[in-house]
Amino acid sequence: MEILNAFNEFETSALNAIAAATDSESLEKVRIEFLGQKNGRVKDLQKVVGTATTAEKPAVGKRFNEVRTNVTAQLDAKLEQLKSQAQKAASDFDVTLPGERPKIGQLHPITRVITEFRELMGRFGFTVVDGPEIEDERHNFEALNIPEDHPARDPLDNFYVACASAAAGGPVLLRSQTSTVQIRTMETTKPPIRIVSLGRVYRPDTIDATHSCMFHQMEGLMVDRHVTMAQLKTVLSLFARSFLGPDVEIRFRPSFFPFTEPSVEVDMKWGNSWMEIGGAGMVDPNVFAAVGYDPEEYTGFAFGLGIERFCMKHYGVDDIRRFYENDMRFLSQF
Ligand code: DAH
Repeated sequence: MEILNAFNEFETSALNAIAAATDSESLEKVRIEFLGQKNGRVKDLQKVVGTATTAEKPAVGKRFNEVRTNVTAQLDAKLEQLKSQAQKAASDFDVTLPGERPKIGQLHPITRVITEFRELMGRFGFTVVDGPEIEDERHNFEALNIPEDHPARDPLDNFYVACASAAAGGPVLLRSQTSTVQIRTMETTKPPIRIVSLGRVYRPDTIDATHSCMFHQMEGLMVDRHVTMAQLKTVLSLFARSFLGPDVEIRFRPSFFPFTEPSVEVDMKWGNSWMEIGGAGMVDPNVFAAVGYDPEEYTGFAFGLGIERFCMKHYGVDDIRRFYENDMRFLSQF
């Protein structure tokens, strides 16, 4: 019977659409398309039933019911299947598995070393003070006994940021050393003094694996009656040992700085080699005079250490530029 083709076609395309549905929403669309009360394709089938002759009617009516029941049953079965799949997927989620930790970042290696240095020096009775990074010539040079014609004052070796007449306070520059903070402290404080100051310094050096035009120093100053070089040596040795372990050795080599007399360069023995870590010495009487201290009454020692040096050695970093590149692959190692 030709008329029955319409039923087969309806049934086949409905069952295919049901099989293709992947979730309950797409399945609901299939239901509406085929069995929808208003415009479902089942309405067309009903019309087909109406066109059957009296002789055909029983068979056609039977087939119509069969097809509709079958499609309805398949829809219900598929819905059940999709529901139980969704439940299973939900129960597959294991709440006891370790989650993915959000990255919260960490302190920069230089910041860590600075924090540790502050703590160590604090235990030796040194107070932490800060000073400005933009300085005048008095604090960066003059009061530190660095004469006008000294090569350290060459404009090409410093970052001058403004020229100004003496009346307007003179030129200003990015400080080239933290020794400026010695002067600022002594100008406002009477002895005894025991301070450290940690911060950035700037020099227009050619940048390479061990030089940067910005780096960090730790400045130390102790002033009192009867301060000696032996105390300087003790403080620096204890400091180095506390940071790096009991086997670290310290060595002083005679040197020259305008603000100390005598002056020394400080080396540290790490494994088999000596590494220069900074300068130090007994505060020059001219420096005391510049801040109004009586050089006959007080003596003091001062030191300035390069923080990057310690940091590179401590963390095994062979290129100073790595610290400033903001490369997460490098920074997240620490
Ligand atoms: N300011 C010196 C520099 O940057 C380091 C230094 C040497 C600091 C001797 C001192 C010192 O306090 O006494 O090279």
